Amino acid sequence: MPNIKIDLEAALTGPGPVVVELGCGNKAKPFSADGRIGIDLVDLPNVDVVANLEAGLAFLPNASVDIVYARSLFEHINNFDNLLTEIIRVLKSDGVCRLMVPHFSNPYHYSDPTHVRFFGLYNFYYYSQEKLQLKRKVPTFYTESRLEITSLKLRFRSPFKGRKWWKRLHEKLFNLSPWMQEFYEENLCYLFPCYGIAIEFRPDRANFKGRD
Ligand SMILES: C[S@@+](CC[C@H](N)C(=O)[O-])C[C@H]1O[C@@H](n2cnc3c(N)ncnc32)[C@H](O)[C@@H]1O
Repeated sequence: MPNIKIDLEAALTGPGPVVVELGCGNKAKPFSADGRIGIDLVDLPNVDVVANLEAGLAFLPNASVDIVYARSLFEHINNFDNLLTEIIRVLKSDGVCRLMVPHFSNPYHYSDPTHVRFFGLYNFYYYSQEKLQLKRKVPTFYTESRLEITSLKLRFRSPFKGRKWWKRLHEKLFNLSPWMQEFYEENLCYLFPCYGIAIEFRPDRANFKGRD
């Protein structure tokens, strides 16, 4: 059972946008400071809802959220399909979800024993109509949940100072176009590893069926 520590009803019906941060961790600010509802498995300071996201978001109604953030969370989640479907369910039709996930070529991410999955360009396109996909198509018959990717950028980072300009160069070059992103992942990613992928999506309006 989730442990809800704020007045969730008031947060969902207030005048401002409803913003939720999944897997907010220990850098979350208080809800009163930034208006974000912080959700995490661990009862850390400023976590507003202590919940296991493997079980979904049953405490949030359909089409109730304007923005969902989830940074460095999905690599910890076994039940990927359930959580993604739940995010699509709780987003308003004009709501957005912003994610950061590790790319499969990032060697550092393999060191973390709590990571259960890695990401490439196509994971989220399995939830996207074929006409909205990249040049390489992926099947959509595994799920009925649909989203529309509005932005996808490969991110290059290094913890070592002198290498930052080099990573910035990769980021510019390999994000020049979707064609370049696909060429990079197919042919170059093990030579020039990618740190992660920043993705923004919204629910696919064609499949929204008047939920809000
Ligand atoms: C790598 S940290 C990222 C924290 C924060 N988003 C950031 O970018 O600094 C991953 C967070 O996800 C949370 N988490 C992992 N599995 C979870 C689950 N099943 N349900 C809820 N939170 C989970 C962890 O407790 C942790 O706070």
